[in-house]
Parts: sequence; structure tokens; C-alpha cells
Amino acid sequence: MRETISPARAIEGVITLPGDKSISHRYGMLASIAAGRSTIANYSTGADCQSTLACMAALGAKIERKEGSVIIEGGALREPAAMLDAGNSGSTIRMLSGILAAQEFTSRIGGDESLSRRPMARIIGPLSEMGAKIEARDGKFPPLTIEGRPLHGIDYQLPMPSAQVKSCVLLAGLFAKGDTIVREPVRTRDHTEIALREFGAEIDIEKRVIHLHAGARLSGRELVAPGDLSSACFFLVAAILLKESSLVIHGVGLNPTRSALLDFLVSMGAKITVLDVQQVGGELIGDLRVQSSAVTGGVIEGALTAALIDEIPALAVLGAASSNGLTVRDAGELRIKETDRIATIEAGFRQMGVKIETNPEGFHVPGRQSFHAAEIDSAGDHRIAMAFAVAALAADGPCAIEGAESANVSFPEFFDTLLQIVRT
Ligand code: S3P
Repeated sequence: MRETISPARAIEGVITLPGDKSISHRYGMLASIAAGRSTIANYSTGADCQSTLACMAALGAKIERKEGSVIIEGGALREPAAMLDAGNSGSTIRMLSGILAAQEFTSRIGGDESLSRRPMARIIGPLSEMGAKIEARDGKFPPLTIEGRPLHGIDYQLPMPSAQVKSCVLLAGLFAKGDTIVREPVRTRDHTEIALREFGAEIDIEKRVIHLHAGARLSGRELVAPGDLSSACFFLVAAILLKESSLVIHGVGLNPTRSALLDFLVSMGAKITVLDVQQVGGELIGDLRVQSSAVTGGVIEGALTAALIDEIPALAVLGAASSNGLTVRDAGELRIKETDRIATIEAGFRQMGVKIETNPEGFHVPGRQSFHAAEIDSAGDHRIAMAFAVAALAADGPCAIEGAESANVSFPEFFDTLLQIVRT
């Protein structure tokens, strides 16, 4: 599907967003293995989180949708009748593999073409150390065949910053004999740790060391997924960029392991105010007010790169319009996302006549650039489609986003919401 975006003057209004993708995956999986009933309000509408629910249903969880909530009757899982389909979702395959590795049955899990190219050795390694038996295509790619086995806890030093791998090991640890410890090189999003505690697991966290105590008995909970800050990012950038904007986004997740985005935007000069912060289910949630702002640019490197990894496509767009440009370092992980995002950002920018210099671990976008009308290929990557839709708003003529339907992966309402708040 091709979506045409016309240049705009402003972003204006008040919106709420569907539930956070990362948190929804975790709630969906934990509710399915917890005893009893869980209700998850504002569960993500994105295809990725629906893939998680479909997998959990195929594994025996009873899942019902009612008035915007997902109701899950969890308990022991059973052998699926067919191969589990994770679709486009790295979080589904990597996190769920931790659960599958400990079951008393064999399962197969795979996904679409993009997922089939994403590295799985990073979870096969630690799960094998815990006693799992996993076969993968060429030893490292989906589909995976996971023969469930009794597992034992490990003390694992994560070789890369990855919340998916951390979560995979912790979820396997739930079923393991003995405690499980994960040590992170830098702090990554801690939604799994928070959710595990909410569902009743005992977990200690000290800086970058997470200690899950063996023998957890999880039970069903009433939960609310906060609005997705990574989805909000596209509208934040659009509002900052367009001259007469003023936007309020209600009920957004502000977990400190995610909200570096706001600090970074403010450090660039963005006018963002955070209002009405509350804690819900261990997660911070609040409202954001953003206004058009002149921004300076900045550098994303080290731990900040890990904290902003999903927001880099949108931030690259802002960087090109900023006064000093944007430099991104230590971002090799971007090359193994849904697409090689350094390459797909570069391709989109070239299409729009925007200069960018790339290297294996990052890129530099000079500032004070203009976006020219173009056809931009999303390459089937949701965050690329949405980031370039935002660039298109600031372009000198209408732009076409090819493969715009990929936004469905995390944010099916993106183009409709944009239409409501955009002023031409
Ligand atoms: C996620 C972790 C990150 C992120 C992804 C969601 C999660 O991936 O890019 O969109 O929910 O844990 P990695 O673990 O590969 O860094």
C-alpha cells in the first residue's frame, strides 16, 4: 500500500495511543503462564503483539477480547498443533523461546521473511547453557525447533545490550531449577523485571544485575499497558518540526529505561512538558505536551544508543532539520532490526535529497537540510515507514510512502491519527 503525505503547517490536538508494544508482549506471555485470569487494558493493537497472543492461544491459553481489553485465562501450556507463527516479531520469537525451552513438549516457531533473517544465536547460546535443546536453520536463524527439557538457572553475562535476550533468559529462569542471574553491559528496558514482580515472582535488581529467584508461582493480574512512547516519538518529532504545532499525548509510558528519549529531545531544545505522572502496575505513565521548537542536534552513543535504539529512524529525520545535525555511534544493532535500519534510513534520505554519511556502526546527518518530495520505500519496516511519513510532512511537496501498511506491525492507527492532528 502506498500512502501519500502532503506538506503540513502544524500538528495540533490531543491524542491517546495504543498500548506499549514491549509491555504488551510481556503481559500477554506472563498472563498465559500465570495461574488464573488476567485482564490487560489498552493491549497493543500492533500485529506483533497479536502474533504473541496467537502463539499463546496455540499453546493453550484462553484469550478473549472485550471492550478494548484482552482477557487471558492462563496456566500450564500444551503442545501446539502446528508451527508457531511469530510474524515479523523479534520479541515474540526471542522471548517465547525461553518459555518453550522448558516445556514438556517440542515446538517449532518461525515467522516472515524479515524475521527469518534475524539472528537467534544470541538466545540459543544462553538457553543451551541452561540445558535447552534448540535447532535452528543454519544453526542461527528461524525457524527454531525447541525440544522442551528441564532447565537449570545460570549466571549469564549478556554480550550485547538486548532486552529481548535478557527477557528470554529470565522467562526460561521461571521454570528452571535454581536461581537465574543476568548481567547487562548497559541497562536496557526493564519491563520484564517489573512485570515479573507484578505477576508474583521474586526478583532483585542491583544496577545492571538481575537476580530471579527460583520457584516463582505467577498468578493472574489486572493490568493496563501504558501508551507506547516509541509510537509517540513520531508525533513528538512531527510537532517539534512543524512551525505552529502544539500537541498533547495522554497516558504515555514513561519508564526511566525508555524515557531517555524525552531527555535527549529536551537537550536538543525541544519544548516538551511532562504532566500528571502516576505509577500503574509498576510502570510510570503520564501526559506529554510538545510544541514546535528550534532544535540544535546532538550525538547518540554508548548507553544512550541502546536506550534510543527504536527511536533512531525518527530522530534521524529531526537531526536533518536541526541546526547542527545528528551523529549516531555504537549502533551496529540497528543493522539487524526488521531491516538494516542504517541502510534503509540512508536510502530514504537519498530519495529525499538529504545528505547522510554512514558507517558499519552508525551515521552522521548534517543539519539545516531540506526534505524534497519523493517516493520513499519503507522496505516493509514499520519504523522506517512512520519516520519518513514525518519527514514528508516537512517536505516541499507531496511524498509517497511505499509499503505504508508495515506501520500495522506496531501502530495500525498511525496514518489515521496523523490525519486527525495534521494541519495543512
Ligand atoms: C525490545 C527490545 C529491543 C527493541 C525491540 C523491543 C523488547 O530489541 O529494539 O523493538 O521489547 O525487549 P533488542 O533486544 O534486540 O535490543
